[in-house]
Amino acid sequence: MNKESLIETVNLSRYYKDGKVLALDNVCLKIAKGEFLAIKGSSGSGKSTLLHLIGGLDIPTAGEIYFEGQIVSEVYKKRGFRLNNLGFVFQAFYLWPVLNVLENVLLPLMESSLSRQKKLQKAKDIINLVEMNDKISSSVSNLSIGQRQRVAIARALVMDPKLVLADEPTGNLDSKNTENVLSLFKTLNKQRDVTIVMVTHEEKALIFCDRWIQLSDGKLQ
Ligand SMILES: Nc1ncnc2c1ncn2[C@@H]1O[C@H](COP(=O)(O)OP(=O)(O)OP(=O)(O)O)[C@@H](O)[C@H]1O
Ligand SMILES: [Mg+2]
Repeated sequence: MNKESLIETVNLSRYYKDGKVLALDNVCLKIAKGEFLAIKGSSGSGKSTLLHLIGGLDIPTAGEIYFEGQIVSEVYKKRGFRLNNLGFVFQAFYLWPVLNVLENVLLPLMESSLSRQKKLQKAKDIINLVEMNDKISSSVSNLSIGQRQRVAIARALVMDPKLVLADEPTGNLDSKNTENVLSLFKTLNKQRDVTIVMVTHEEKALIFCDRWIQLSDGKLQ
């Protein structure tokens, strides 16, 4: 186990439908601390499956995943571990439409022991960083698609996670918003030293990343 790895997968496999679908096939992957990694591959190649396994949203059929050298099936069980260490960004945002920007970003802080003042400060700081401060009291349902994704990114980052997992975060965005989001990820990666793993179909996303890997039929190429 390499000490500098944030995540390491060892012979990771995921079968679905009683073994009829092999979504992920024996994947060995090391993700370094502070890395901005892109995952490419055609539809059905296993990209989301890999991301879900790394994030503990799904459980492998075989193999192991380590987070800073600790087996995730153990360490993810610890109360608050995933909340404090992982952030998720999805293509479909999954914000609460009836809540405003600030309320959405405060959500992950609900269980935190910080004072109300500190929570507000953290939320406002990250909202500032994603340049949504002028919309802080707007209901999410009144935001543009690009603005919604920036709020989702703020929510993913508000706990200062070590790892952000993003599944086609620009999949619903036009080319201008795509570049905004990619450059925002790059900035967050460099300024906050957060490791980012991003599934993407965008060729132009690759220039923002440190490295890319490709999956094909569940196998790492
Ligand atoms: N819950 C599930 N039940 C059964 N099969 C599944 C399930 N989730 C994924 N699969 C299958 O596993 C394979 C990999 O799926 P996955 O969603 O990881 O692909 P992907 O690379 O993310 O594709 P896309 O680019 O379309 O999002 C596919 O064949 C898919 O049909
Ligand atoms: Mg997918």
